[in-house]
Amino acid sequence: MILLNHDAVSGLLTKGGTFLGTARLPEFQDEEVRKVAVKNLKERGIEALIVIGGDGSYKGALAIGKMGIKCIGIPGTIDNDIYGTSHTLGYDTALNTVIDAIDKIRDTANSHNRLFFVEVMGRDAGHIALNAGIGAGAEEILIPEEDFGLDRLVESLKRSKGSGKTSSIVVVSEGDKIGKNVFELKDYIEENMPEYDVRVSVLGHMQRGGSPSCFDRVLASRLGVKAVETLLEGKSNYMVGLNQDKIMLTPLEQAIKGQSEIDMELVKVSDIVSS
Ligand code: F6P
Repeated sequence: MILLNHDAVSGLLTKGGTFLGTARLPEFQDEEVRKVAVKNLKERGIEALIVIGGDGSYKGALAIGKMGIKCIGIPGTIDNDIYGTSHTLGYDTALNTVIDAIDKIRDTANSHNRLFFVEVMGRDAGHIALNAGIGAGAEEILIPEEDFGLDRLVESLKRSKGSGKTSSIVVVSEGDKIGKNVFELKDYIEENMPEYDVRVSVLGHMQRGGSPSCFDRVLASRLGVKAVETLLEGKSNYMVGLNQDKIMLTPLEQAIKGQSEIDMELVKVSDIVSS
């Protein structure tokens, strides 16, 4: 362990990833492993933790909360799938990375009259696909929350071709259920619409890295300050989140149980602007 004084964290604001090296640890579900963690903290006089992550991290936080360590959660994931906050840390940066990549892919799509399926991350949530898809002007956006089936996709691509478009971008969320995966979608479209020259681009882990956007830097600073203030007030087992541009508290239990919903207004907007 090292002491995180000003020198230790200087310059971190501009960096992606985690210099702490924190990662998923399934073994933490084992009480014996948690006992070791709590012992290590107590031996060093650490009374409280600020836990950055999502559901899994918050379950761990609640479990060690019962063993005498105060915990506050900060929502951190590119997927934006945490209840109690409109934005999670990393999400805005990932969106900017995705639209930048799609803008570049569109150059090839336009130059060579191609249809591109671009797969983006998001696990079981379509937030990244929906927002980046609108931002990048995608012709279709496929998200797990809305399964319209392959027929609608084919209809939409036919309409697009009929209206004179020679290239198209379809953004596919990795959790989308229409095809088994994005390559299967490509095969299906090639079989049913031979007029299309189809390519697949899986953006992958580039979405999880890079220098954070200004929005994420400001949000991280605001959430960090509120997390410390909340601990100093003697509170525990809350998540700090963003709600209508205010930093708000949500009990960790609720953050775990609640469902982060897709914004249906955005679904409507995407239908209108892409048709
Ligand atoms: O939860 C964040 C996330 O980036 C998901 O969007 C993605 O499915 C997953 O993590 C990738 O995890 P890994 O790096 O372990 O393959």
